[in-house]
Amino acid sequence: MWAIAAADFGAELELVEVPEPVAGPNELKVRLFAASVNPFDRKVVNGMLRSSAPHQFPLVPGTDGAGEVAGSGERIFGTFFHRPVGGGTYAEYVTVPAGNALAPLPDDMDPAVAAALPTAGMTALQLVESLGAAESVLIVGASGGVGSFAVQIARAAGKRVIPIGRGDTLVEADALIDLVSADRSSFEANARYAPLAFNTNYVSADQAQNFGMKGSRETLVRLASMVQAGDLEVPIARRVPLREAADVFAGHGPGKTVIIM
Ligand SMILES: NC(=O)c1ccc[n+]([C@@H]2O[C@H](COP(=O)([O-])OP(=O)(O)OC[C@H]3O[C@@H](n4cnc5c(N)ncnc54)[C@H](OP(=O)(O)O)[C@@H]3O)[C@@H](O)[C@H]2O)c1
Repeated sequence: MWAIAAADFGAELELVEVPEPVAGPNELKVRLFAASVNPFDRKVVNGMLRSSAPHQFPLVPGTDGAGEVAGSGERIFGTFFHRPVGGGTYAEYVTVPAGNALAPLPDDMDPAVAAALPTAGMTALQLVESLGAAESVLIVGASGGVGSFAVQIARAAGKRVIPIGRGDTLVEADALIDLVSADRSSFEANARYAPLAFNTNYVSADQAQNFGMKGSRETLVRLASMVQAGDLEVPIARRVPLREAADVFAGHGPGKTVIIM
């Protein structure tokens, strides 16, 4: 099968031909229709998990996807991250433990839309729910994957959203979602603007401020329902065919990059 992979930690992505994966016990083999690109994928290629998980090479990145289960034809979408790391969704086929966060792919949903939802959508939904009764929220990095979902979900929850892009000045608010700070001091500087603050890069000394998404079938089903009801728009900045996807870490406009198989 064709896949986009890195030969080693830190290597450039390239189009490669690799054997189709074989499903083990309690695993599904899925023919992917689409996969979406998350910053986590680039971090994995750069070795973020090298000391904490076994890896396989060539390392195929990719956590999010939508496809059909080989054999049954059941259409699903969700998070396909599993160990060893490197059998990811930037590929025609992937295997995944049946217990992963996976949900039915609605018949009338564009697989690219479903593939764009899991990591960014679940993170945004759970972040907004962590804000409780906060009436106003600063969202730093509002134009990205998580941010563009969080802005919509927070507004739908009745909150006053202050989206922060590059160069924007922060103002005081009830809560802060910081999707950008990569070090403690940057986050602490932003966190001074709100009594309730979260970051997604685990940079705070206060663990309560370090937000980690918890994937679940239930959250995926809720997100799909919101999309179907017209309550959540999925911003796809770029759709790229798998065979041309070696540059997907180069960046994109606002929203998500989706690889189409
Ligand atoms: N902990 C978790 O469970 C979890 C879950 C999901 C994501 N994350 C992390 O959360 C972060 C955001 O994820 P994402 O999917 O939203 O990434 P993304 O799609 O790359 O979006 C990041 C956004 O931040 C913007 N940005 C960069 N620097 C900025 C600055 N100085 N001021 C304002 N905006 C700035 C970027 O704009 P440009 O396009 O102009 O650069 C981009 O729109 C990543 O680090 C990711 O790994 C963590």
